[in-house]
Amino acid sequence: MLTTNEYLTPVLAEVCAALGLPGNDPALAGAARNKADMSRRFARCGVTAPSTHSVATEDELLRLRATGQLTYPSVNKPADGAGSAGVTVVHSAAEAVSAMRAAREPRGMYGMPLDPRILVQEFAEGTEYSVESITQNGVSSHLCLTRKTVAGGAHRVELGHGLPAALPPEVETTVITQVERAIAAVGIRNGASHTEVMLAPDGQCVVIEIGARLGAGQIGFLIAHALGVDPWAACLDVALGRAVHLAPTRNGYAAVRFLTSPHPGRLASVTGLPLTSHRVPTVHMRKAIGDRVDDLPHNGARLGYFVVTGPDADTVDAHADDLFRQIRIEVVPHTHNQLGWGQVRPANTTAMSE
Ligand SMILES: Nc1ncnc2c1ncn2[C@@H]1O[C@H](COP(=O)(O)OP(=O)(O)O)[C@@H](O)[C@H]1O
Ligand SMILES: [Mg+2]
Repeated sequence: MLTTNEYLTPVLAEVCAALGLPGNDPALAGAARNKADMSRRFARCGVTAPSTHSVATEDELLRLRATGQLTYPSVNKPADGAGSAGVTVVHSAAEAVSAMRAAREPRGMYGMPLDPRILVQEFAEGTEYSVESITQNGVSSHLCLTRKTVAGGAHRVELGHGLPAALPPEVETTVITQVERAIAAVGIRNGASHTEVMLAPDGQCVVIEIGARLGAGQIGFLIAHALGVDPWAACLDVALGRAVHLAPTRNGYAAVRFLTSPHPGRLASVTGLPLTSHRVPTVHMRKAIGDRVDDLPHNGARLGYFVVTGPDADTVDAHADDLFRQIRIEVVPHTHNQLGWGQVRPANTTAMSE
């Protein structure tokens, strides 16, 4: 059995265990989903991670401040979140209280009950990477590192990914050591994982989070384009107990760039989008002209994306930058007689052009 949905990974581990199928440790699978449990497992298993408090009420948050345990900047995030929803970088106690309220806003999937706790985490400086891994019978293969471009400011929405990222071998060894500890800490024995790390200029590697699933945000497609490896087939092979095929058959590079709204309002036009081609296999808009759009509180607010492939990081990044510069996104203020959030309407892309 298999899921690509992070919210379902704990129940999948239970079902696999009950049926005797290859899966993850059901006693630990919740820690690959719930960041409060994850933080405890990381501490116990020697994973280097930001120092973390979990708080259930504003009073508990204020007590942390009163006892001098809050340092700034810090990161507030929901214990049960995903997709950067409800994650805020805060610089003061006042911001921490409003960030705590914001962290409570995201809703889970399928009506699942959410853990009301909020994590208050030390801010880790550095450059963000993820590691894409496939584990079978407790042995992990790391397909690649992914370089992540993340928005600065209060909300760290992911703006782009590029892979495979190259790091000096000794730094890569440090990263993989942490990732393997994280994989073991949350009981991943059979399946994919996506581990997000922050690499400080001094080479220290801090694990931000791990999910027992393939990386989202087109990372699976980037792996297929750049390395010629089908990560979904690999997940199926692991789920079925078959040998996995992870040897790269290509030696390329692939990147995705996400389009975002400059401010909240109504999407009026998008011009200059790239055409699909051999080097630009995917161009996709998630929002239609006339849709309400938001600025950047979470990954789900992104407007669309395009993928660029090529022989190496420099070529692909330069091409992607060039294409990105040609895109113009016009957003006009929202007025009350227009359609609101969540109302179903036919997509209208007539104002989009190359
Ligand atoms: N402790 C931290 N220090 C620095 N940046 C962080 C920290 N925690 C989260 N972030 C930033 O916020 C983003 C989203 O947080 P994350 O913990 O990955 O939550 P989610 O499960 O919603 O992706 C991360 O990709 C990273 O850019
Ligand atoms: Mg994340």
